[in-house]
Amino acid sequence: MNFKDSMKDKVENIENVIRSFLPEETGFQKTIFEAMNYSVLAGGKRLRPLLMEECCRLFGRESREVAYFMAAIEMIHTSSLVHDDLPAMDADEYRRGRKTTWVVYGEDMAILAGDALMIYAFETAAKAFAVTDRPDLTGRCIGILAEKTGIYGMIGGQTVDVELTGKEIPAEKLDFIYRLKTGALLEASMVIGSLLGGASSEEAGIMEQVASDVGLAFQIRDDILDVSSSPEVLGKPVRSDEKNHKTTYVTLEGMEKAERQVEFYSRRAVEALEGLPVRNEFLNQLLLTLITREK
Ligand code: IPE
Ligand code: IPE
Ligand code: MG
Ligand code: MG
Ligand code: MG
Repeated sequence: MNFKDSMKDKVENIENVIRSFLPEETGFQKTIFEAMNYSVLAGGKRLRPLLMEECCRLFGRESREVAYFMAAIEMIHTSSLVHDDLPAMDADEYRRGRKTTWVVYGEDMAILAGDALMIYAFETAAKAFAVTDRPDLTGRCIGILAEKTGIYGMIGGQTVDVELTGKEIPAEKLDFIYRLKTGALLEASMVIGSLLGGASSEEAGIMEQVASDVGLAFQIRDDILDVSSSPEVLGKPVRSDEKNHKTTYVTLEGMEKAERQVEFYSRRAVEALEGLPVRNEFLNQLLLTLITREK
């Protein structure tokens, strides 16, 4: 099968995995279920679960636990988007080709839906204990998921991003923001996938570095698309960064250098993967296609 077809197959399978863990929309609190499902089922590239699964495959061991973590990471990612779009943050009205959660359900419900998705992610990951014969590893992966989501990860990065809005940011601080706000969840995806696939701690450390580069490249590409794409293609507004007076790689370094950086970090990631004794050609190709992704 060619790359495009296997991508389609894999994402379809991920959609089914995610759907199987989402709550049923019944009960007195059904508004929260609807708001959660609305934002998760709006689509999106499903890159984080995909990377997790491919890293698991890279190291070769079958894992019963990985599906729980794949659903969990997409819930956490989606919760970060629901909150990121709020009027108090980026104040954006489109996401994944739909009105944002706060526009449809109100700010109050969007705050709750973001919280709900984040905690339900951990509820979902904890269900892996019921199927695992590796409880220590499962616990370790839940710890990684929490650390990469929280104050030393995505939330820490969003904090500095919000705080420095409208201010000048030196390049190394921008790197810090990107490695946390975006890189950390990619690190969680790739490290957890690798560990569940049988990677050693040393290999997991290499994968963390790889993912950090992938995350930096991914966020720089996001900045590029924010000025060069269209809402129809992206499914979210363009020029959101300008509207919010954000310093980005593009405002700081210019478009050409930003493009070169995306390529540099992505190729460095793939080279590091090629240094491992294991190999997943699909994963290498995926990382290279992200250099020129259009959405
Ligand atoms: C958007 O992430 C937020 C960033 C970290 C740049 P994605 O571009 O992966 O968004 P979806 O999941 O495809 O909607
Ligand atoms: C946000 O970065 C990253 C998150 C942790 C949600 P952006 O604010 O640039 O993401 P988009 O462009 O709204 O998807
Ligand atoms: Mg933002
Ligand atoms: Mg945003
Ligand atoms: Mg952006």
